[in-house]
Amino acid sequence: MKKIFLIGLFFIGLSCKKSINTAKQTSGSSFQLRIENKIDSLIDIMTLEEKIGQMNQYTGFWDATGPIPIKGDQSATKYKDLKKGLVGSMLNVQGAKQVRALQKIAVEETRLGIPLIFGFDVIHGYKTIGPIPLAESASWDMEVIKKAAQNAAEETAAAGINWTFAPMVDISRDPRWGRVMEGAGEDPYLGAKIGVARVEGFQGEDLASPKTIAACAKHFAGYGFAESGRDYNTVDLGTSTLYNIILPPFKAVSQAGVRTFMNAFNVLNNIPATGNTFLQREVLKKEWRFNGFVVSDWGSIAEMENHGYAQNIKHAAELAVKAGSDMDMESSAYVTELVNLVNNGTVDEKLIDDAARRILRVKFELGLFDDPYRYCNEENERNIIGKKEFYDDALDIAKKSIVLLKNENNLLPLKKENQKIAVIGALAQDKTSPLGNWRIAADNGTAISVLEGLKQYKGNTLKYAKGADVLAPDSKVAFVSELKINETDTSGFAEAIALAKTSDVVIMVLGEHGLQTGEARSRTHIDLPGVQQELLEMVYKVNKNIVLVLNNGRPLAITWASENIPAIVEAWQLGVQSGNAIAQVLYGDYNPSGKLPMTFPKSVGQIPIYYNHNSTGRPYGEGNDVVFWSHYMDESNKPLYPFGYGLSYTSFSYKNLKIKVVEGREIQVMVDVTNTGKLKGKEVAQLYIQDKYASVVRPVRELKGFKMVELEPKETKTIMFMLTEKELGFYSNTGKYIVEPGTFNVFVGGNSWASLTHAFNLK
Ligand code: BGC
Repeated sequence: MKKIFLIGLFFIGLSCKKSINTAKQTSGSSFQLRIENKIDSLIDIMTLEEKIGQMNQYTGFWDATGPIPIKGDQSATKYKDLKKGLVGSMLNVQGAKQVRALQKIAVEETRLGIPLIFGFDVIHGYKTIGPIPLAESASWDMEVIKKAAQNAAEETAAAGINWTFAPMVDISRDPRWGRVMEGAGEDPYLGAKIGVARVEGFQGEDLASPKTIAACAKHFAGYGFAESGRDYNTVDLGTSTLYNIILPPFKAVSQAGVRTFMNAFNVLNNIPATGNTFLQREVLKKEWRFNGFVVSDWGSIAEMENHGYAQNIKHAAELAVKAGSDMDMESSAYVTELVNLVNNGTVDEKLIDDAARRILRVKFELGLFDDPYRYCNEENERNIIGKKEFYDDALDIAKKSIVLLKNENNLLPLKKENQKIAVIGALAQDKTSPLGNWRIAADNGTAISVLEGLKQYKGNTLKYAKGADVLAPDSKVAFVSELKINETDTSGFAEAIALAKTSDVVIMVLGEHGLQTGEARSRTHIDLPGVQQELLEMVYKVNKNIVLVLNNGRPLAITWASENIPAIVEAWQLGVQSGNAIAQVLYGDYNPSGKLPMTFPKSVGQIPIYYNHNSTGRPYGEGNDVVFWSHYMDESNKPLYPFGYGLSYTSFSYKNLKIKVVEGREIQVMVDVTNTGKLKGKEVAQLYIQDKYASVVRPVRELKGFKMVELEPKETKTIMFMLTEKELGFYSNTGKYIVEPGTFNVFVGGNSWASLTHAFNLK
């Protein structure tokens, strides 16, 4: 046994030593060829069991020296599997020491010594937590989004981990779904750009660098369309929506070289995504030529039995592997069933070879065969994690993620002197909630609170009253969804009201606790949870000078506040620098520039509500004295705040929209943007198109370009967008990309309601 192990190790070491990786080498074709040769040789000497072992991923709940007893037998079995070379990957293991210890078992105690790949959910930072992805998306700034992913990768790699389960590129139109916090919102064009920026940030130029990690596009596909926003619920998705809304961000990240995909819990046309051949084999691996690997979602292979699609776990393993799921996350279906399924001829061994090759390919690219411990340097870990520069960058992106929703009478920015300021709301002093959900490696209490941020401005008097908590004290919201999670106690109201009465300005920090969004955190009421709305209205009765600072991980229906409160700042969950970023925006040291990546509804009844909807046969419009058109009797069709919306402390105007057909199908769009206010500011100029008439019904408008422009007061800049076939076409119902001639409307402005418009004809 030992001998074979040594031969294996020698062979791998020998063939790998020559490939000291450089940026060029990882992308060059000769580098790839060498990897393919190594994979060939390795596959040749692997037993069926070992190949299947590569396809097995376990969560890391055992100690490096042995199983943690709590999980009993299950843990012991997994530990034995690891020693037998029947585990290819682990998730949820953190820290260089821990990773090294487990890697050592794989490398030194198994026959072939194939290293493990360690995965982890690094969704918005590892230890240095940044804004939640939805917030970050509100920056519309690809450079900072990429930088955030880059920093997260460096920190993660320093902790021994080589692979993140991010970015989530699921498009969603339903703010009831708690996982909207994890994505880029409702738009496929913006979503694709952000997905690519994140993948480039995580993976860098050289996957084998100790500063980069492999990324994972998830959840393939349609997971964000869970019916009624209830997580894990069924999905019913039309073909046109699949091709034009759901798949484009996945395709974009695949083209950008994302190394792994994760499939999903949901069904697509009543076939579970995990067992979906069309998605995984036809679209992803054949049409898009994806040569990385697909990991299942947690237990999603076994869940096909619950779906009533697989008869039992054996059948589930067969269906999943045939459909193209390469790695089994925590179902133990492959490791227990596949050997027999191959031996009795049910599953072709070629499928196993293909899956194992894909997994080995990514391991080779990560440099794990060159040095399986390359990510396990404890000194490095100490020096890199929490680096000052990561904190500085986290502040930069946090500021850029904030969206100013309302600012009547220029209540903001706050005056820096001689003001009596009241700060109200439990979230104002919370140092954990701003970390949001999906921050497994972070420590509680590591965020700068709003109060701490504001205290740095010494010219005003600052007083705080909690008013009310968000969550009930005995709430177990972190772990389970319970109906009674929200606070009902109003005994702190009196103190808050008294304080507001004697203050010049009241800053109310209200919203969702950081763990009220995320996986399994669906809500039917997307208002301010608990008694916060009541608190807001009571305080408003005694002082109307309220700045409402929202902390939340999804769009909220805050209609009353939007009608009554003069200033509203959308501050999401912004991570470790939350309080500093918010204070700098409130005091005008940063002029807000964020734009909503997702529509805010007026009420839950409007959901799904999104800007790029189709026109109906009865659109007519509000205000007409007719009954039989597509509308509600008790609510407007309009959202509270549209997609792309966000104000600044200055104002912008758009003029002189010009369109020039440069060449047959290249259209140049020019527009002048002027800063019409008194402060320097940044604006995200957005371009939307409408294909007036096509062979399938097209949306009323679609985002097809955006540009960030920074302007001094009174300054004008002309900005240019290019529209090419890439922007002007769409996918037919058979998935074919087509560009049809005809009339297009163009709209340019500061949000999806942009009214400056012009038309052109495409030949
Ligand atoms: C989630 C995935 C996540 C995985 C591993 C699942 O429940 O759906 O997004 O990556 O767990 O933590």
